[in-house]
This record gives sequence, structure tokens and C-alpha cells, in this order.
Amino acid sequence: MAIISYPVQASGFMEPPTDIEKRSAATGALKFVKDNSTIGLGTGTTTHYFILGLAELVKQGINVKCMASSIDTAMKAESLGITVIDTYPDTLDAYFDGADEVEPRGSLIKGGGGALTREKILAYNSREFNVMVDSSKVKEKLGNFGVPVEVLNFGISFTISNIERLGGKCNVRSDFESDNGNPLIDCYFGEIDNPTMLESMIKRIPGVVEVGIFNGMTKRIFQGKGKEYVLKEV
Ligand code: 5RP
Repeated sequence: MAIISYPVQASGFMEPPTDIEKRSAATGALKFVKDNSTIGLGTGTTTHYFILGLAELVKQGINVKCMASSIDTAMKAESLGITVIDTYPDTLDAYFDGADEVEPRGSLIKGGGGALTREKILAYNSREFNVMVDSSKVKEKLGNFGVPVEVLNFGISFTISNIERLGGKCNVRSDFESDNGNPLIDCYFGEIDNPTMLESMIKRIPGVVEVGIFNGMTKRIFQGKGKEYVLKEV
């Protein structure tokens, strides 16, 4: 199978450095797409570059079936000729997605695009989770980016109070409804010393659907560095 050097050619306009790095990270991750596999597709601008590259691989003859983590991703992938399935396989061979923050042990904050619940379902049910980020996303500790939390609308003020009792400052994301029909709260905790504990403490609050902290799932991190990328195995 031929591996293309870049998922898409540069548009001819000056690309912002973060976009160049997102593209580089996606290019690295595309090398881990196996023929005759079933993979999960994340959501967001970095995944967008991955999808563009995947469409090129499909044109070159690779056989992949994809589960999408959002309606947006499903529509984008299908419009580019990628097969999107809505029946659930036993497991996914791999999942490819971006992140809002990643720390050295591979814990992530995700959900900037609001798709965290479906993203976490796909990541959890994949043999491997490949994370693609530009270098601005790599942190020593998580927490500068607010933790997105998908919640039920019912009892939302109780849910907010309970998250605030854990030390989070909550902002309900305005004009937003997830693909599951739910609101989302962005929760600011400052530097997070123990992402695993914080994830489980938020998760057990009634009304919380899912928490945008992903622990113990990442297998590889593709970090864009200019037009190159660095691969870290976790
Ligand atoms: C969407 C996500 C995205 O992966 C995350 O927000 C990063 O997005 P981008 O690649 O656009 O920077 O979690 O819910």
C-alpha cells in the first residue's frame, strides 16, 4: 500500500503554523491505518486532515470501514467516498482523534468540539487509540483547557453545584447541543494533579453523561512539529 507524503496539498495560502502541525500529525497517524480494518474517526480540525488523507488512501485502494464520532465527521467522511458504518463491530481495530490537551502519560482533555461522549465510546472500544495533536496541545499537566462535561438538561443546576463543590468553575456552553441532544458544561479546575481521580469524581455525579478527561486509553501520540511529526508510544 502506498503511503502518501501529505494527506492534502497545501492550499496555496499561508497556512497557520498550528494547521501545518495538525496536518503533519495526521500524516503520521495515517501510516497506522491497516488494510481491511474497521476504525473509528474522531471529530475536529485535526481529524479533518486525517479524513482528507484517509480519502486519498481509499482512492488508492485501501479497504476500511469507519465508525464516526459525530454527525459532522460521518457526513464529511461519506462525502469523500469513505465507508461509514452504523452497525457495531465487536471491537474497532483503531481509533484516530485529536485532543485539546495531552500530558506525558497520555491522559487527555477532549470535547472542545463537543463530541466527547461518542469519542470516548469509540476510544474505549478500540484496540488502539492514536492521538494527533499540534504542539500547542502538549502540556506537563492538564487543566488550562476547561474540562468539557456533557450533562442532562434535567437537574442541570444541581449538577453544576456538585461539580463546583469539587472545585470547578462551570460555564454552560452557549448555543450548544450535542449530537445526543444534551448541553455541555466547560469546567475550569486549574492544573489537574490527578486526572484519573477527577474523572471518576465528576463521572459519579448524577446527571453527568460523560467527562472529557480520557485516562489510560492512549496508545500513540503523533505530535506535529512544523512539517514533521514526533511519535510517542505511551
Ligand atoms: C472534539 C474533540 C477534538 O478532538 C478536540 O477538540 C481537538 O480539536 P481540534 O483538532 O479541532 O483542535 O475532542 O470533541
